[in-house]
Amino acid sequence: MTDRPTTLLFAGDGTHAVTQLTGMSNRHGLIAGATGTGKTVTLQVLAEAFSRAGVPVFAADVKGDLSGISQSGKPHKEIDRRTSLLGITDHQLRGYPTLCWDIFGERGHPVRTTISEMGPDILASLLDLNDTQTGILYACFALADDEGMLLLDLKDLRSMLAFVTEHARELRQKYGNISAASVGAIQRRLLVLEEQGGDQFFGEPALSLKDLMQKDFSGTGAVSLLDSERLLRESPKLYAAFLLWLLSELFEELPEAGDQDRPVLVLFFDEAHLLFKDMPKGLLDRVEQVFRLIRSKAVGIYLVTQNPADIPNNILGQLGLKVQHALRAFTPRDQKALRGVAQGFRNDHGLDVQNILTTLGVGEALISTLDENGAPTSAVAATVAPPESRIGPAKPAERKTLLKNSPLAGKYDTAVDRESAYEQLEQRAAEAQARQAEVEREAELEKARLKAEKERQRAAKRTTRRTSSRRSSRRSNRQSAGEAFLKSTLRSVGRTLGTKLARGILGSLLK
Ligand SMILES: Nc1ncnc2c1ncn2[C@@H]1O[C@H](COP(=O)(O)OP(=O)(O)OP(=O)(O)O)[C@@H](O)[C@H]1O
Ligand SMILES: [Mg+2]
Repeated sequence: MTDRPTTLLFAGDGTHAVTQLTGMSNRHGLIAGATGTGKTVTLQVLAEAFSRAGVPVFAADVKGDLSGISQSGKPHKEIDRRTSLLGITDHQLRGYPTLCWDIFGERGHPVRTTISEMGPDILASLLDLNDTQTGILYACFALADDEGMLLLDLKDLRSMLAFVTEHARELRQKYGNISAASVGAIQRRLLVLEEQGGDQFFGEPALSLKDLMQKDFSGTGAVSLLDSERLLRESPKLYAAFLLWLLSELFEELPEAGDQDRPVLVLFFDEAHLLFKDMPKGLLDRVEQVFRLIRSKAVGIYLVTQNPADIPNNILGQLGLKVQHALRAFTPRDQKALRGVAQGFRNDHGLDVQNILTTLGVGEALISTLDENGAPTSAVAATVAPPESRIGPAKPAERKTLLKNSPLAGKYDTAVDRESAYEQLEQRAAEAQARQAEVEREAELEKARLKAEKERQRAAKRTTRRTSSRRSSRRSNRQSAGEAFLKSTLRSVGRTLGTKLARGILGSLLK
């Protein structure tokens, strides 16, 4: 792939081209700006450039307007103005190979993952659990691991929670305190999550990362779009949890890449402030680490947000490319944010950065990239290139065609419910019930036998008048049904997996 360009031209000021080195594209980036200033189109232009360079792209499509990347743009004088200003000579109107994804399975291939893969950390954050409740969630995961039981969907987790409550006393020593009240609180949150799309999201077939990392015949990187309109409206937390899961999964699954001339995948996370909103400190620390470490896996992350102040400083400090569209400065708070943003730019040419930031036109931005040494370049006020694909959404019929012709058609469409914790626990409960019935039947028989024996002895006494030897009443050492159930559960029955269940806990490699 050495014949491909290693710089992506995406903006310029009429004199200088603003380019991004593909080799620096794993150093992450930020696209920020007030509403309507051109963030989505900048994302689109960058995504196209990566795709042309053979880099697959994953992007959240928050308003549906990014789906136009799948369709060719139309000639327009604004396109001509921008291409001639930037000196772009090879602008071709065309659509890009696009895969549509949708957690609800309506506007794209369904995206699923399993409870195990999501892991207790992200799940606890998704459900807003306190420490005690998080501890119980950990106990469920640990017990499932010890038992070789799969936690795939929400009903697996629910039956596991019911099980640990029932056996709280026996499990306490190994797995800690499990209070019914805390479990009740978790169960209630799970119900809410279920209504918000969690029942569709958790299950199988789970998304395979390979499917996000495709190229077409010509070596053009596939653009995967997660339709996030409904998701953000109905469950912004699930949106954040999905993106975190994706990060942790990439982090755990991808090999170390060393120095690469381009990323293996770039991710664009729109409405990025939602990722960090209400995130517990511990998880945030780990997300920051993942941001840093995922660079060595050649994954670039680009955050899109209105206000950079919503991104935690430790993450903001890690972002190499900065594309800052116009900011408003109406209130003192706005002005403070503006000063903060201005200070974040290297400014060798004495630009009046604050003034520029408030007067930039639509599709213009103050931009700093990284040079070949990884140092930030001095800020340039630049015009962003026009996209080659359509600005605005794909039409429903076009989306339908995309889905029909997708190389993944059929792979994810139907949910599969294979045997997992729910079924296993149901089966064990049924077995325990059968055992209980057996125990009761045997107890009845024993009683009858003892009664008959007594009768016999009495009869013998009556005839011989001799004292018969005392019979010790045999204490039944049979287990109660509950004990038997628990023992069979604690015995490693289904340990066919051989190893602990793999799961995408952000922290599993970091702890
Ligand atoms: N690079 C560009 N080339 C051509 N037109 C552009 C460009 N950038 C922005 N525009 C024009 O500006 C409009 C608004 O841009 P865009 O939708 O990207 O804004 P936004 O910042 O994402 O807004 P919001 O915050 O509402 O999502 C586009 O529909 C397009 O007409
Ligand atoms: Mg937008």
